[in-house]
Amino acid sequence: MPILEILTYPNPVLRKKATPVTEFGDELKSLVKSMAETMYDAPGVGLAAPQVGVSIRLVVIDVTPKDEDHNLIVLANPEIIESEGEAIEEEGCLSLPELNANVKRAVHIKVKAQDIDGKAIEFAAEDWFARVIQHELDHLDGTLFLDKISVLKRAMYKKKRKKILAEGA
Ligand code: NI
Repeated sequence: MPILEILTYPNPVLRKKATPVTEFGDELKSLVKSMAETMYDAPGVGLAAPQVGVSIRLVVIDVTPKDEDHNLIVLANPEIIESEGEAIEEEGCLSLPELNANVKRAVHIKVKAQDIDGKAIEFAAEDWFARVIQHELDHLDGTLFLDKISVLKRAMYKKKRKKILAEGA
């Protein structure tokens, strides 16, 4: 399976609202496989389909510690149906190179989604796992954690990216 290219800010695909997954066949399975490999290769703990240029409501997540076996979680059409608490922690994103910043998120959430076969699933998540889910779900609505950080930090990052892109061109 090929490692996919991860789109970075300000690629416009990252800002699109992704459409629901409707086909749970081989094509989806092969996309999930490639997304998982891309995520492990990066390395990252989560990847949303729009980040690899496929604007559908699909994310892969693995928050297992490095020294343990992989435990891949695939969520199609995920929704947060309950959320509680509030915590601020530092986040990063494969689509926002060289940015780490504090983001406020819920601590306990309940998620409704479909698995890779289209079967309905529902589960609770908390702390870091809940944070990663919230971060990835934001990608499906075109939201980046860049939108949730301080105005100053955001302005500085946008300027820095512009400069890097200008130099690369
Ligand atoms: Ni991200």
